[in-house]
Amino acid sequence: MGSSDVKAEAARRRTFAIISHPDAGKTTLTEKFLLYGGALSSGAGAVKAREGRRSATSDWMEMEQQRGISITSAALQFEYRDCIINLLDTPGHRDFSEDTYRVLAAADAAVMVLDAGKGIEPQTLKLFEVCREREIPFMTFINKWDRPGKGALELLDEIEQTLIVEPTPVTWPVGLAGEFKGIIDRKTGDYIRFERTARGSTIAPEEIVSAEQAAKDEGEAWENASEEAELLEMLERNPDIKTFLACESTPVFFGSAMTNFGVRALLDGVVDLVPAPAPKVLKDGSRRAVDADFSGLVFKVQAGMDKSHRDRIAFVRVCSGKFERGLIATAGGSGRQFSTKYAQTLFGQDRETVDTAFPGDILGLVNANDVRVGDAIYTGEPAQFPDLPAFAPEHFMVARVKDTSKFKQFRKGIAQLDEEGAVQVLRLPDIGDQAPVLAAVGQLQFEVAVNRLENEFGAPVELTSTRYSIARKTDAESAPELRAMQGVDVLMRANGLHLALFESKYWMDRVLADHPELTLERMVAEGGLS
Ligand code: G4P
Repeated sequence: MGSSDVKAEAARRRTFAIISHPDAGKTTLTEKFLLYGGALSSGAGAVKAREGRRSATSDWMEMEQQRGISITSAALQFEYRDCIINLLDTPGHRDFSEDTYRVLAAADAAVMVLDAGKGIEPQTLKLFEVCREREIPFMTFINKWDRPGKGALELLDEIEQTLIVEPTPVTWPVGLAGEFKGIIDRKTGDYIRFERTARGSTIAPEEIVSAEQAAKDEGEAWENASEEAELLEMLERNPDIKTFLACESTPVFFGSAMTNFGVRALLDGVVDLVPAPAPKVLKDGSRRAVDADFSGLVFKVQAGMDKSHRDRIAFVRVCSGKFERGLIATAGGSGRQFSTKYAQTLFGQDRETVDTAFPGDILGLVNANDVRVGDAIYTGEPAQFPDLPAFAPEHFMVARVKDTSKFKQFRKGIAQLDEEGAVQVLRLPDIGDQAPVLAAVGQLQFEVAVNRLENEFGAPVELTSTRYSIARKTDAESAPELRAMQGVDVLMRANGLHLALFESKYWMDRVLADHPELTLERMVAEGGLS
């Protein structure tokens, strides 16, 4: 296969992630995408049903089952129109973790799902901040229009005011939230009327209706919607690919994932707007062409998923070239070579061997022991990707080994978890490894750490809570003054990063106000966009 074929294959890939606050409808929308992509024959419920089918063969799965969450990251692949869609799963978003953020490093765009009744919620904001930091363009799907909620213009306002991004509706709803009748396709001016099917288990029939007919049939709902659509026209709130790619505007779609209303328009938007894989920027600022030698970014490492096999899966987003199973790749971090004989695609717990993959596709490489999150793997010309940012931890616990004779194992385990990015490990310079502070974005990361330290490294630990609740990046110069203050501490990561920990945001704000000379930088996804 020549380079033009690789280019052609890359051009038809669309790789994106859905981001949302819990309960906004991410799972439902994912199911409906599969339904419209023809990958789900039995209708809705398959994504959730899969969770129920899991067998309890490992602690991971037990944890997953008990909590009803998905720890295993995966990408769903399906065809739609002439494109291959890779929908990245942002795992465990009920129990938020750093993985959720890192998955975005593998995406070319995101779909932000909002609940029409709630608008922008705290986790939406944090995920949005990661998108902005990583320059990932995002579309907005305003979900649950089938039930009473905020006004459409009010929601646009909220997006604009909170995110400082211009919302540009691609579709406009006919009928207030709760009285959803259909959408206006703003490009063609068509009115698309929907028909409900039983709990949205099949594709919602759509009917294109003329303006005259719509006025007759829908009365006031149509009148209001077309007036609002005119207003948007006057304000020039029109989708624009250039500002979308620059994260300055977000194309907005209205719908109801549950009843399938507006799902097709959104999927069409994915094909039309999500950029195909582009040459990836490397650490030295150069770019690697999509048809260059194979390279991929490791965006997640999942170890200890199966206790009996000790397997370790590296999730890789293909960035350039053609991947062929069995090729010998170099792991960027260690420089060691390894065979990719066990390459898989994953859908929840279902694994399938993958033989070839192209830019934009996601692979799970089993037993890729030398790779770490953020590493490049490649053949031919070496590749190194820019570092992943440090995400703002929000939970802090002190870890101590229960049995001091296991201290060596504990130390090794802690170091490994830190390197993998499973948790952030912070140390006080004088206490060191005796009682490190584990810092996490989500509580689930602690459970995973405790479980792995005990089962994989043979070092049961005890966690005790701390008084810290927020962290900022600082440096060696500011550290002594901060350490001397009440309610503040400065700890270090193995990579030399200094973190100032505060008891409360209120206290941190006071220190910021009273000591502008100190270095206290926000970390990505601190939330609040201050
Ligand atoms: P999440 O993955 O973002 O957490 O959300 P999920 O899809 O699980 O949806 C959360 C709840 O919202 C579910 O209800 C789901 O059915 C409902 N929902 C999703 N989309 C829509 C929509 O367009 N309209 C309405 N009215 N509801 C929607 P649940 O009661 O928690 O679960 P279930 O019993 O319905 O499965």
